[in-house]
Amino acid sequence: MEIDIFTLFPDAFDWFERQHHVAGALAHGTTLGYVNYRDHTPLKAGQVDDTPFGGGAGMVLRVDVVEAALRARYGLDPVELRAQRRVLALTAAGRLLDDELVDDLAREPSLTLLAGRYEGFDQRVIDHFATDEVSIGRYVLAGGELAAMVVCDALLRKLPGALGHEQSVVEESYSKALEGAPEYPHYTRPAEYRSWRVPDVLLSGHHARIREWRLAQSRARAAGEPPDGSLP
Ligand code: 6GU
Repeated sequence: MEIDIFTLFPDAFDWFERQHHVAGALAHGTTLGYVNYRDHTPLKAGQVDDTPFGGGAGMVLRVDVVEAALRARYGLDPVELRAQRRVLALTAAGRLLDDELVDDLAREPSLTLLAGRYEGFDQRVIDHFATDEVSIGRYVLAGGELAAMVVCDALLRKLPGALGHEQSVVEESYSKALEGAPEYPHYTRPAEYRSWRVPDVLLSGHHARIREWRLAQSRARAAGEPPDGSLP
């Protein structure tokens, strides 16, 4: 997959690229590219944002600046670009990112992520240049960079090369294999610690019963029931 991230702070991604699963995806042919809006602004002195019409706090990323950056990267009108690739505007108000959307995005050959800053984008960026408006939760971040990393993190670990165990993405929290439920609990050695015992079934070696227990645990979590063994 080829992912381009438009941002005012490309350096913010240095740490992200060093993470094991990200480095693994990059080694397997995924590419992360960065475009700094400021490098392409048609305005003086590197200006990229402006005060909102109608008044109010904060600054808004300008539509002409975003267009110039997209044109510089793709060499075409960003309105047409949307027919070629998914362009995600990252905003607090967008569609909530979930496992289904991540799976959907992971099937794309290429993606463009637009990170905003300040109060976000001029609405015309979202209306005319983006195919999707995506949020990572119902709270407001100072910028889209962390959201872009969250989207990429969730995506890249679904791609070949990101994981030691390819199977571990199939049966994980919120996956279809677990009926969209959160994952079952995991335990490792020691089997008993401060009198807290690992459930016997997991030590039994009985794979069918273990599967059954895990699915039941997963369903119970989805129903909001307390985990086994958490009561005094
Ligand atoms: Cl994608 N951006 C910003 N600025 N805030 C957010 C968000 C995105 N998702 C949740 N809050």
